[in-house]
Amino acid sequence: MIGIYMIVGIIGSGGREHAICQKIYQSKKTKKIYCFPGNGGTAKIAQNTNISWNNTAKLKRYILSKKIDLVIIGPEQPLVNGMVDDLIKDNIKVFGPSKIASQLEGSKIFTKNICKKYNIPTANFGIFINKNDAIDFIKKAKLPIVVKADGLAAGKGVYICENVKSAKSSINEIFNGKFGKAKNILIEEFLKGEEMSYFIISDGKTIKRFQTAQDHKRVFEGDKGPNTGGMGCYSPSRLINKEMDSKILKRIINPTLRALKDLGTDYRGFLYAGLMIVKNNPYLIEYNVRMGDPECQTILPLLENDFLGLIESCCKKKLSKISIKWKEKKSLCIVLCSNGYPGKYKNNILINNTNVNSTNNNDFLFHAGTKVVKKKIFSDGGRVLNFVNLSRNFKESRKNILNNIKKLNWKNGFFRKDIGYKVIDK
Ligand code: AMP
Ligand code: GLY
Repeated sequence: MIGIYMIVGIIGSGGREHAICQKIYQSKKTKKIYCFPGNGGTAKIAQNTNISWNNTAKLKRYILSKKIDLVIIGPEQPLVNGMVDDLIKDNIKVFGPSKIASQLEGSKIFTKNICKKYNIPTANFGIFINKNDAIDFIKKAKLPIVVKADGLAAGKGVYICENVKSAKSSINEIFNGKFGKAKNILIEEFLKGEEMSYFIISDGKTIKRFQTAQDHKRVFEGDKGPNTGGMGCYSPSRLINKEMDSKILKRIINPTLRALKDLGTDYRGFLYAGLMIVKNNPYLIEYNVRMGDPECQTILPLLENDFLGLIESCCKKKLSKISIKWKEKKSLCIVLCSNGYPGKYKNNILINNTNVNSTNNNDFLFHAGTKVVKKKIFSDGGRVLNFVNLSRNFKESRKNILNNIKKLNWKNGFFRKDIGYKVIDK
C-alpha cells in the first residue's frame, strides 16, 4: 500500500532514470527501489533487474511478487504502448499518462489536430497521405521547411529542409518506412526563434509548473551537426518570466488539457512542452509525455521537495496540497558521449574514476549508457554520463563540470564545452 516506507519500481535505463532513482533514494519514504532494467549508476542505490519492459506479463508478475507499491515510468515508448493502462488493470499504482493521453507524443498528427481545433499556437502545417501531393506542396512552399514522421522516432523523424531536393528525399525516406510503416506525413512551416523545454506535473485534477530548461540537441559546438537525444542543458531557461509563463499556460497547456477532457480522459504525470519562442510569443513544437533527458538530470537536483512525496500526492490526486519549491541556484548539465555518437560507436569500454565528484553537495554524476561488470563500470550506449553542477551562476557551473570531466579523463568520450553559451559570457 502507498503510505510510509514504499517499495518503488522505475522503468528505464537512461540518465533521466538515474536522476529519478537518486531523488527517490533520498526520500525518507523509500524502503527499496527496483529498476527495470537500470544502469551502472542505479546499480549502486537500487536493485537492477534484467526484465525488459517489452515483456509486460513478466514485468507485472515481478512487480506483484516484490510487492512494489508504486511504479514510475521514465521513457516514452512504454507510455505510448499503454503500460499505464496495463498496470492499472492489475491494481498496480503507477505514475504516468494513459495510452490515450500519451498520443500527445506518440502521434504528432494527433497533437496538431488538437492545436487546430483549440486554436493553440503552432507552426502552420499540412498532413499528406500521398507522396506526390506532399512533393507538389513543398515545390510551392517557403523554405526552409520541416518534414516530420508521425510516430515515435527517437528524435530522428524530423528533417529541417533547406531546399526542395532534401525535402523530397526526406519524404521518400519516411514513406519508404525508415521510421516504421507511414500512412501519412506532416509538413510544417519553419519557426525561427529560441527553444525552451517547459514542464508541468499533473494528477488529473490539478496542474503545477515543474521548471523550465534549455536543451542543446545538436552534436557539435555552436549548435552544428546532426540532432542527438541532447548534449547538455541548463535550467531555468533564460526565456521564462511571469508574463511568458501565463501565456504558455493560457494559450497552450490549458487548452490541451481541455482537449483531453473532451476526449473523455485526463492527464496524469509529467507533461513536457517543447516550445519555440518567437518574438516573445510561445509556439508549440511538440509534446512529450514524460520528463526530458537531459532536462530531468538538470532540473531534479534543484527540487527542494521530497520527490516520492510529490509523486505519491499525484497518485492520490492530492497535488493541490503540495507547494513545489526550488533551490535559488542555476543548474547546468554536460553529457559525455561515446566517440562516434549519434552515429556508430563502441560499447564495453572501461570507465575509471566515476566517483570524481561524490563528496560535494552541488555536484552530481548521473549514469546513462553504463553497466557494471565485476564491480567495474563499462560504457553501454551513445550518451554515457551526465555531469551536473549547481552554482550561483551558469558560468561557475560549467567551469566546475569541465574540471570534473577532466578528472574523469575518459579517452573514448567527447562532449560539448559550450553548453549554456547563450547565458554565459566569454
Ligand atoms: P521534435 O522532435 O519535434 O522536437 O523536433 C526536433 C527539433 O527540430 C526541435 O527541437 C527543433 O529544434 C526542430 N524543429 C521541429 N519543428 C520545427 C519547426 N516547425 N520550426 C523550427 N524548428 C523545428
Ligand atoms: N531532451 C529532449 C527529449 O528528452 O526529448
